[in-house]
Amino acid sequence: MGNESFRYDGKRVLVVGGATGMGAAAARQVASLGADVVVMDYVPVEGFTSIVVDLRDKDQIDAAVDQCGGTVDALFSCAGVADGTPGIERINFLGHRHMINRLFEKGMLPKGSSITAISSSAGLGWYNNLDTVRSYVDGTDFDSGVAWMEANPGNNHYMFSKQALCYYVAFNAYEFGKRGVRINAICPGPTDTPLARSNEDLWLSFGRDFRDEIGVDASSPEEQGDVMAFLGSHAARYISGQTVIVDAGLDGAGLTESYPSATPIVKFLYGIS
Ligand SMILES: NC(=O)c1ccc[n+]([C@@H]2O[C@H](COP(=O)([O-])OP(=O)(O)OC[C@H]3O[C@@H](n4cnc5c(N)ncnc54)[C@H](O)[C@@H]3O)[C@@H](O)[C@H]2O)c1
Repeated sequence: MGNESFRYDGKRVLVVGGATGMGAAAARQVASLGADVVVMDYVPVEGFTSIVVDLRDKDQIDAAVDQCGGTVDALFSCAGVADGTPGIERINFLGHRHMINRLFEKGMLPKGSSITAISSSAGLGWYNNLDTVRSYVDGTDFDSGVAWMEANPGNNHYMFSKQALCYYVAFNAYEFGKRGVRINAICPGPTDTPLARSNEDLWLSFGRDFRDEIGVDASSPEEQGDVMAFLGSHAARYISGQTVIVDAGLDGAGLTESYPSATPIVKFLYGIS
């Protein structure tokens, strides 16, 4: 018998964006640890209870939450798309936030539950873009968020969507904490998923020289899914408001200049000139 805090026996887990990649890895991992898993995605998923939802559509999100019903002990908000995808602002942030709001409204995230999202190292510069991020995140709901973005189209890109998510996670450690709910995110380094493969030159080449020198490959989806499984579990019960960087050390090596060739890009991601 090991440490049961890491297990999910008797827990119901909702994975949003669990058809492929890291979301699918997280779903498999928590299922292997005993969870009853529901997967939402815009394509149907085999092997788990499957609910089809397009995060670009508020009514579909509401209907999907109704279809899920019951309570959720751990939510994994994983779906995301790259620049160039219509509705990126809704898929990467506004839709996930609306889903969380709906789950709270319906009493489906009880005391003791957890939320774990997937952000990105692309979002680490949120603090150096605080006024703009706050105006978007604090000042809007789903519909007015779409309107905000239409009025500020220069912000409708992947990096800003992930800055919004990182800020949202940090901010809500307090708001959700008062309800007994933790929220965290991972910031994966380059991870070999269908999304990264379809943007291979930009996504998977990032940090390749660093990885070659320390002798690791791009992350597997499972290497990220395992961290999500930990963050969502009882074992992580004192962690909240954190965006955990899971990149084999590239970020720290760049920031501290122990690996100087990564420094310019890492400083750029943090918004440090
Ligand atoms: N792969 C990387 O290198 C990398 C690095 C940093 C962050 N991320 C983030 O990781 C998350 C997961 O991505 P992944 O790399 O596993 O890619 P992926 O494409 O395998 O997974 C994304 C999932 O989102 C779902 N999805 C897409 N559009 C949707 C919509 N409109 N409604 C509902 N579901 C939708 C897809 O069907 C898929 O299951 C994303 O948020 C991405 O931004 C990826």
